[in-house]
Amino acid sequence: MANLSFLHRYEPGTAPGRRPLLLLHGTGGDETDLLPVGRLVAPGAPLLSPRGQVLEHGMPRFFRRLSEGVFDEADVRRRALDLAAFVQEAKSAYGIESPVAVGFSNGANIAAALLMLQPEILAGAALLRAMAPLSNPPDVDLSGKPVLMLSGNLDPIVPPASASALAGQLERAGATLRLQTVPGGHGLTQTDLALTQRWLDDTPDVPV
Ligand code: MLT
Repeated sequence: MANLSFLHRYEPGTAPGRRPLLLLHGTGGDETDLLPVGRLVAPGAPLLSPRGQVLEHGMPRFFRRLSEGVFDEADVRRRALDLAAFVQEAKSAYGIESPVAVGFSNGANIAAALLMLQPEILAGAALLRAMAPLSNPPDVDLSGKPVLMLSGNLDPIVPPASASALAGQLERAGATLRLQTVPGGHGLTQTDLALTQRWLDDTPDVPV
């Protein structure tokens, strides 16, 4: 592993032409968590998987929160820029293109913040159980940027209003949004994996 600004795992691609995935774990996860998900949803794609640099009672996250669902937005902004810088480092260290983010929970929220703050870093994003990380995101042009949002109809953590606020922000910014509610709670299910795989297969590569 190259010595970059985030602890991470990198798995080189084995299938030529597959977009790299940026795998972003949920609270309490680490850089190994989503590797099996990445291998499943995009077989043969290069996988880049950093560990969040914030610790909440020992649990890694990608940004600070004040309480559950209440985010420290100044920290969200700062950490999104740090993550963007890491992705740039990884692109040159490993010779990869801009990745598609696959983020779960806190990882989905930082991926949404990246889209709003540094859109050129990502070729697209699958946001699994995401909330709106910024109450007032800057004006950003996400024209044609493919985004998948999967919400659970029984999710006790993501308030439906926050998921719809994020969907509205993405749509107003021009993203090509596929939004689906799946049966289930906050945890990922086989349905999430199948839908993410299908979306990645359906999504043409966009130049970034
Ligand atoms: C967050 O803090 O980003 C969300 O509440 C999801 C989570 O619990 O990580």
